[in-house]
Amino acid sequence: MLDGYHILTITHRDAPLELIGQALVPSGDDGEVLQRLKAHLGWSELLYLSTCNRVMYLFYSQQPVSEETASEALRVIRPDLDENRLLQLRSRMRLLHGAQAVQHLFEVAGSLDSLVVGEREIIRQLREAYDRSHAMRLTGDHLRLLMRFTIETAKEIYSNTGIGEKALSVVALAFAEMQKAGLPKHARILLVGAGQTNTLFAKFLKKGGYHHVTVFNRSIEKAQAAAQLFSAGNALPLDALEHYTEGFDALIVCTGATQAIVTPELYRRLLAGDAARKIVVDLSVPNNVDKDILSDFAVRFIEVEGLRNTARENLAHREREKEKAEAIIAQRIYDYRALWHERQVERSLSHIPDEVRAVKDRAINEVFGKEFAGLDPSAQELMLKMMNYMEKKCVAIPMKAAKAIALHAQRSHHSKETAHRAKG
Ligand SMILES: NC(=O)c1ccc[n+]([C@@H]2O[C@H](COP(=O)([O-])OP(=O)(O)OC[C@H]3O[C@@H](n4cnc5c(N)ncnc54)[C@H](OP(=O)(O)O)[C@@H]3O)[C@@H](O)[C@H]2O)c1
Repeated sequence: MLDGYHILTITHRDAPLELIGQALVPSGDDGEVLQRLKAHLGWSELLYLSTCNRVMYLFYSQQPVSEETASEALRVIRPDLDENRLLQLRSRMRLLHGAQAVQHLFEVAGSLDSLVVGEREIIRQLREAYDRSHAMRLTGDHLRLLMRFTIETAKEIYSNTGIGEKALSVVALAFAEMQKAGLPKHARILLVGAGQTNTLFAKFLKKGGYHHVTVFNRSIEKAQAAAQLFSAGNALPLDALEHYTEGFDALIVCTGATQAIVTPELYRRLLAGDAARKIVVDLSVPNNVDKDILSDFAVRFIEVEGLRNTARENLAHREREKEKAEAIIAQRIYDYRALWHERQVERSLSHIPDEVRAVKDRAINEVFGKEFAGLDPSAQELMLKMMNYMEKKCVAIPMKAAKAIALHAQRSHHSKETAHRAKG
């Protein structure tokens, strides 16, 4: 059964981020602390995951797990915490057992439990957490099997549902809108501002294959850093915008200024006589582009306000996809039970091939040693062939029978559970 799997966790659903931080293993001596935790609580395997919105201790234990586990674990992880803090933290932590723990892990990996549903980053974080725990010799066969299955489950969720579809960040949405407007790859792009937001936008531009980008910024160093992403990148100080007359196809504006930087007069000058429709993206709050340009010129205008609604719609779409993901998870838990049983059977019968081989060797060398030695070489060769054939077949018989028994047990467990659920 899956009863040996457990999770002790605290997430953004249970507590504010500041409190979640208290459940982290202090960095520096984490390997040592985790080893101590595992030994102290008598767990046979442990995987430790920490992200910006969750801390998770996934463990396998042959022993029954006490409801005091959270307190006991916290005393090992954070012996410096006073009793009040410890109580507060413990009351927010969740302890999940067996199939419930496996289900939670699948939900985490499928990003159903994430702050931003559909955020794929969690798969990488889980993989790395496993690799780290494995390198610290904290994990074993049960967690190896579960992690492999978990990653496959997450991939199945991402490819068979729309949970990761439709961007949510303002920059990603703005970039997608700009592309929808049909901006060609050779377009001349002006980037006004080189703070975090526009630098991220520049990265999207680079990934999208744009290369003709001129960056204006108050401090020239940041403009240079953004411009160097592009083969035809150019960096200029913000003042140079007033005198720029080389024309453009798209204007991306985002600075911390609280008034319009791009006025109708400046915009007219930037057009340099070109009357074609332009794309203007303004991600500043408040706007850095004077909206009077919309009535005076042909513009496809993209701004934060409009994107917020799209982000909300996209989130609603992802939430709807959660149901499909839950159905996949239910089936995967069932499949994992079968796989786990099969693996236990394999492990419990792993001595059989050696024993059968030993019987064969004894027969040839001891029990029938004299008779065998008296045979001519071709008869010996045939005899060995037959013995090897028998050895192979004999090893397979108990394996097959045991797997059938495990499958039967798994099916009857499943029908009992289904009946139990139907009653409930
Ligand atoms: N971060 C987001 O996810 C996000 C999303 C949507 C919208 N926004 C909005 O985007 C704007 C910038 O945010 P950010 O995160 O990119 O900020 P940031 O990293 O602090 O960068 C600010 C940028 O604006 C420039 N700047 C600041 N004050 C200026 C002024 N008075 N005149 C001209 N340039 C000025 C800075 O130039 P220097 O390099 O010379 O200092 C820098 O390039 C804000 O309005 C913010 O509300 C942010």
